[in-house]
Amino acid sequence: MDERISPARSISGAVALPGDKSISHRLAMLAALAEGESVIANYSTGADCQSTLGCLRGLGVKIEKAGNDVTVRGAGLEGLKAPMETLDAGNSGSTIRMLSGILAGQPFHSRIAGDESLSRRPMERIMRPLAGMGAAIQARDGKYPPLEIAGSRLRAIDYTLPVASAQVKTCVLFAGLSARGRTTVREPMRTRDHTEIALREFGAEIDLQGRAISVLGGVPLKARRIAVPGDLSSAAFFLVAALAAPEANLVIRGVGLNPTRSALLDFLISMGGAIKILSLDQAGGELAGDIQVRHSRIRGGTIEKDLTAALIDEIPVLAVLGALSEGGLTVRDAQELRIKETDRIATVAGNLERMGVAVEVFPDGLRVPGGQRFRAAEVDSFGDHRIAMAFAVAALLAGGESVIRGAEAASVSYPEFFAALRSIAG
Ligand code: S3P
Repeated sequence: MDERISPARSISGAVALPGDKSISHRLAMLAALAEGESVIANYSTGADCQSTLGCLRGLGVKIEKAGNDVTVRGAGLEGLKAPMETLDAGNSGSTIRMLSGILAGQPFHSRIAGDESLSRRPMERIMRPLAGMGAAIQARDGKYPPLEIAGSRLRAIDYTLPVASAQVKTCVLFAGLSARGRTTVREPMRTRDHTEIALREFGAEIDLQGRAISVLGGVPLKARRIAVPGDLSSAAFFLVAALAAPEANLVIRGVGLNPTRSALLDFLISMGGAIKILSLDQAGGELAGDIQVRHSRIRGGTIEKDLTAALIDEIPVLAVLGALSEGGLTVRDAQELRIKETDRIATVAGNLERMGVAVEVFPDGLRVPGGQRFRAAEVDSFGDHRIAMAFAVAALLAGGESVIRGAEAASVSYPEFFAALRSIAG
């Protein structure tokens, strides 16, 4: 599907976001393992999170939806059923990586697969620790989906993550829920901690010591009624649009402000962004609030080391902002970007160039010089939701009407994105 985007004369008003994608996956999986009925309010409308629900249904979990509320009848730690068919993770790396941790500890065989993009994404990062727990998993060419998982009784592990990955951390901790003993995951740097928060909310016995997280196996989880805050990674597109568009003044409502995610706001503010937190609340262990963003002169900056990991999902849209900033944007230490839904270093650079923006590419990142303008152009999502949305923002700031090819990819995390963008762009 093509989306035609005309330049915005202004960005104003207020926008609400779909429920956070990362949190939605985790809550659905934990609700499925809990005892009793959980209600997850404001569950993500994105296709990825629907893939998680589809997989859980395939494991015999009863799930009902009413609007954006999802009711999950928990099966308990030992109540999942052997799937009749291959579980379909769609485009979702989170679904396959996190759910594999659960599947590895079940007393049955399962097979989980995904779409073309997911079938090219590496799974050794979860296979290695799960093998250390006694799991038997086979993958295409030893590392790609589909995964064949021969479930068994796992033993606890003490595992140091070789790459900072919240998905791998979650996979191992979820496997630990049904393992014998206490499973510990040590992080090289702090990654998003939604799993730790959600485990506590569902009554798991979890312990945090610095960057080591441990969970005791065999402790029953208790069903919960819990709400998902708005997705800050989705808010990123509106933040950039409002910072860059002349005279913009936008309110973003109910957005998740978990400190392990909000480096985005700190980084934008450090570059001169006028961003104000209007309110702050806590629900289900997560912080959330309304924020206001106004047009600002953006100085430019560098994303490297730990900051790269903290901003990894937002880099495509930050690259767009970099071109319009004074000093430009440099991104380093971002090899992980090459194994996301697309090689995001290549897809970002390709689309920037199509829009007349100069960019220098490195093996681990890119540099977008500042003081540039976007030329109207035809760009491609390459089937990647964040690329579709980042370049919709670039198109809004361009000199004429642009076309986003494959714009439907946005629905992976944000089906309502183009409607929301239109509602705030004059
Ligand atoms: C996620 C972790 C990150 C992120 C992804 C969601 C999560 O991936 O890029 O969009 O929900 O845990 P990695 O674990 O591969 O860093």
